[in-house]
Amino acid sequence: AKVAVLISGAGTNMAALLFASKLPSCPYEIILVASNNPDAEGLKIAAAEGIPTFTKSHIGLDRVAHDAIMHDAIVKSGATYVALAGYMRILSKEFVAKWDGRMLNIHPSLLPKYKGLHTHQRAIEAKDPVAGSSVHLVTAELDDGPVLGQIEVTILPGDTADTLADRVKMAEYQLYPKTLAEFVVRDTNPEFLTAQVRSLAL
Ligand code: GRF
Repeated sequence: AKVAVLISGAGTNMAALLFASKLPSCPYEIILVASNNPDAEGLKIAAAEGIPTFTKSHIGLDRVAHDAIMHDAIVKSGATYVALAGYMRILSKEFVAKWDGRMLNIHPSLLPKYKGLHTHQRAIEAKDPVAGSSVHLVTAELDDGPVLGQIEVTILPGDTADTLADRVKMAEYQLYPKTLAEFVVRDTNPEFLTAQVRSLAL
């Protein structure tokens, strides 16, 4: 499966997806890393590994127009899946519809808890014992859509939003590649799906 990854910043989750894809029998490959931010650090990581990159700033463009430019670049790359990894843009419903069922996002909370921003601060303030991260299919609602995988991270006494965010990221680097791999295998293999349904029926 050919995957385009969209980033806006450090791109460490993109790097986790990329390096996992170099391991034997990984069922996906990263064929494009695209960003709305020309200064995104992750673009350098991708370029260093020989992955094509694409950048188009959203500044001065309306959302639908910017999304259409990103969509064209993704389609041209040959990608059939999109993985959002710290892509800090709300997507237009037009873009979401075009990638319906084929676009994943990673969100740093145990969804359905804490959609939106400041997830770690909110988990600490709520005195939650655990935080974590979720990979989900993208639908029109922000941080909504079916959850494909989750990982928990214990909140320690004295944790700040920053210290917790660092540990959640370590967990994300395990979660995202595994969840994406499982998803594309299921999604591209109807027999596998049938076998699963059969085994459930037994
Ligand atoms: C991650 O914590 C991810 O869950 C959230 O944004 C962060 C991206 O970090 N959506 P990075 O750019 O992958 O380092």
